[in-house]
Amino acid sequence: MTDHADHTDPRWTTRPETPADRAAVHGVNTAAFPTRAEADLVDALRADPEAWLPELSYVAEAPDRSLAAYALLTRCRVDDAPALALAPVATVPAYQRQGAGLAVVRAVLDAARVRGEALVLVLGHPEYYPRFGFGPASRYGIRPGFEVPDEAMMALVLDDSVPVPAGLIRYPAAFGV
Ligand SMILES: CC(C)(COP(=O)(O)OP(=O)(O)OC[C@H]1O[C@@H](n2cnc3c(N)ncnc32)[C@H](O)[C@@H]1OP(=O)(O)O)[C@@H](O)C(=O)NCCC(=O)NCCS
Repeated sequence: MTDHADHTDPRWTTRPETPADRAAVHGVNTAAFPTRAEADLVDALRADPEAWLPELSYVAEAPDRSLAAYALLTRCRVDDAPALALAPVATVPAYQRQGAGLAVVRAVLDAARVRGEALVLVLGHPEYYPRFGFGPASRYGIRPGFEVPDEAMMALVLDDSVPVPAGLIRYPAAFGV
């Protein structure tokens, strides 16, 4: 079980993005990924009022106040039930494998829990996300509308007092899936 107090790694200050961070957020995603696709995806999601939840776009600041890492949750649906999609997660290369990614993901998941969100979905490395409590989405009957290895589509239940919806994941249009 993940220790939710554990994201207070003193090296990283986690917080929601502010309007002043937008260019730097674009820069974190451009630096972390091979192409600008993820950076541009974030900007497209930011322009979608049905998807964008400003308090769930999270950054981790390095000690020099530059941005080291980024994690985004946006509104998606499982059939008609609201859920959140975690994407992208990015750490600038100079700060990778120093805990910044862990800190920013834990912080954004905690912020979602505090807001009363019940369910988060992620498509990603099956070695990375189980440490936050994610497991195969298929165990809940949740499925993407595209081909993907079963273990890469993962779900995290934040509120187990709410029945977990089964069905098809409907992503914001900006994901293009
Ligand atoms: C994946 C990523 C976000 C991880 O962030 P990070 O800040 O480097 O990772 P952290 O230091 O917080 O993570 C610690 C642990 O995560 C694991 N980890 C890190 N990168 C990983 C990867 N690419 N695959 C699997 N596990 C990984 C390691 O077990 C690591 O522990 P270790 O240092 O003891 O080996 C970062 O490497 C990144 O931006 N990569 C490029 C973009 C990307 O692939 N994003 C994910 C999309 S699903």
